Amino acid sequence: MMDDEILKLLRESPSAFLSGEEISRRLKVSRTAVWKRIQRLKGQGYGIKASTRSGYRLIQSPDLLTPSEIKPILKTQWIGKTIHHFHELDSTNSKAYQLALNGAKEGEVVIAEFQEKGRGRLGRKWSSPPFLNLYLSVILRPNISPHRASFITLMAAIAAADAIQKFSGLLPLIKWPNDILLRDRKIAGLLNEIHSEMDRIHFVILGIGVNLNMDHQIFSKEIRAVSTSLKIEMGQPISRKMFLRSLLLELEKWYSIFLKEDSEVILKAWRDRARIQGRQVKVTSFGKVLTGTAVEIDSDGALILETEDGKRTRVVAGDVEYKTKTEVL
Ligand code: BTN
Repeated sequence: MMDDEILKLLRESPSAFLSGEEISRRLKVSRTAVWKRIQRLKGQGYGIKASTRSGYRLIQSPDLLTPSEIKPILKTQWIGKTIHHFHELDSTNSKAYQLALNGAKEGEVVIAEFQEKGRGRLGRKWSSPPFLNLYLSVILRPNISPHRASFITLMAAIAAADAIQKFSGLLPLIKWPNDILLRDRKIAGLLNEIHSEMDRIHFVILGIGVNLNMDHQIFSKEIRAVSTSLKIEMGQPISRKMFLRSLLLELEKWYSIFLKEDSEVILKAWRDRARIQGRQVKVTSFGKVLTGTAVEIDSDGALILETEDGKRTRVVAGDVEYKTKTEVL
């Protein structure tokens, strides 16, 4: 907490030195305590110029996702006003779930710099090396009936795709149910978990992982050919905090559209970004493999597939593989 307070003071006077004495007086701690904290901040990557006579001046901030880095740049009304930041967690989803059970409010966000057991869909792992990407979970408490919950996933996929597009100028596509692709390679994934009763949602945990600064060789061999990162696609390092700012803004916008508008609005936006209709696909669902033409996504978010014998099948969960490459216009 004191780290944040020192940073706040240093940011208030960006072009002047602030003496150790002044900081210790304002934070009501000893000068030795201030010195120790300054060393700690330097260890975290903050560039702090120190002069025996004049004190301290902040000259550079690292690309950390701490509240003190994020809050000054955040443009949202309510998402991310409380950020729970961790250097290391098993999984942000598990932490957010616990916090929500203990009463955390709608819009609270859990962020980790590193996940030891990052979780993907269908029991898979989500590669989460330290300080490279974005691993976050948002707590939502929508006052809707549980049967509309699948739309939250669609809405979040649209928001993630929009954030990537606005940030990079590139055109991402959504692959059913909620993978985000650039040039047919996965750049982001969503894992949403819901805690509900028959007729009431207690909360939804929106888990989002975005590959921002991964290089090819960091992806494991199994997923290397089908994965990408924004750094790979844009050819330059990505500021994680600036991307986070865009993502939270888009999420807030699309969540409010979801709450206010008819489901059709979300479905249309999703279909526009998925372009799955009419494509030849292979679908793996509960161990079964089906091939055919994707007809559409129905009003529950399920995929309607027309198999070679002309029969229509409704797929509620699984993985899709495209049999032909996507043409991006
Ligand atoms: C997938 O496409 O399989 C979903 C990946 C979701 C990964 C994110 S990273 C933040 C959050 N915490 C987790 O453990 N998983 C999600």
